[in-house]
Amino acid sequence: MALHTHRFAIIGAGSIGRALIAGMLKGEDVPREQIHATRKSENRLEEVREAFPGIEVSADNERAVQDASVIVLSVKPQQAARVIEEIRQHVQSGTLIISVLAGLTTHSIAQLFDQRLPIVRAMPNTPAMIDAGATAIALGPHCKAEHGAIATALFEAVGSVEEIEEYLMDAVTGLSGSGPAYVFMFIEALTDAGVKQGLPRSIAARLATQTVYGASKLVRDTGKHPAILRDEVTTPGGTAIAATSELESHGLRTMLIKAVATATERSKQLSSPEE
Ligand SMILES: NC(=O)c1ccc[n+]([C@@H]2O[C@H](COP(=O)([O-])OP(=O)(O)OC[C@H]3O[C@@H](n4cnc5c(N)ncnc54)[C@H](OP(=O)(O)O)[C@@H]3O)[C@@H](O)[C@H]2O)c1
Repeated sequence: MALHTHRFAIIGAGSIGRALIAGMLKGEDVPREQIHATRKSENRLEEVREAFPGIEVSADNERAVQDASVIVLSVKPQQAARVIEEIRQHVQSGTLIISVLAGLTTHSIAQLFDQRLPIVRAMPNTPAMIDAGATAIALGPHCKAEHGAIATALFEAVGSVEEIEEYLMDAVTGLSGSGPAYVFMFIEALTDAGVKQGLPRSIAARLATQTVYGASKLVRDTGKHPAILRDEVTTPGGTAIAATSELESHGLRTMLIKAVATATERSKQLSSPEE
């Protein structure tokens, strides 16, 4: 396993940071004493200590990075410049930086550190909190295959990982980074649709949720193209074709293509606010 020999500093143990710690500890991939997690508010550090007994938890970023071989930057993007300024003099040469900071390129992170460090940029999504994340990683300058392997192992502990070229990161943000929001909306709408047909809301919600989960799992587990699976449940003159032709007439595909394009464009704008 690529992780167990490393010492990790998780700078910003919020939602994503904690999901990654949980992933590392779950498979006993990393001994607890090799993880140091930080957050800003002293009173919230206790939450992290309680959740992960045995790891080091503090508000001391400098100390956390001093003996780390892997630093995970998981603060909010607007907090990044200050945090990097605080730690940059204390980072050992050769330390791998893994950033989940949305919108910050490996180039801009390298400029903030002002030294030749391997930097991996990652875009996870919130299902990482339940080990069902979809993460894309891009290797920046000075990265070797071993750095990619460490980042892959880290995010595989909380879901699936795709390696991409960095220029595609905005597209990933538009698809899987923001995607859970689209699916939540779909589940909510499907629930309302059931309620409209007379189903009690709680039952409609459970049916809608399980249907989305089951359909996703069927696509993933069988490896079949979704169109084939759709054909398999579409009887001539039946209910599924009646409904799917309605969805086609309202442009479901075009709507999603445009939504992802808009999110991708927005991600580009946020990555280069000075333009
Ligand atoms: N959530 C997502 O779906 C998602 C997806 C992809 C990428 N990301 C990226 O992941 C990063 C984290 O997002 P999140 O949702 O996990 O945010 P979050 O829950 O707000 O976590 C951010 C953490 O950073 C800590 N922090 C703030 N300033 C700090 C400092 N100076 N030193 C140490 N820790 C500090 C905060 O601590 P306190 O709580 O004590 O203030 C908080 O625990 C963001 O850059 C975001 O762009 C998130």
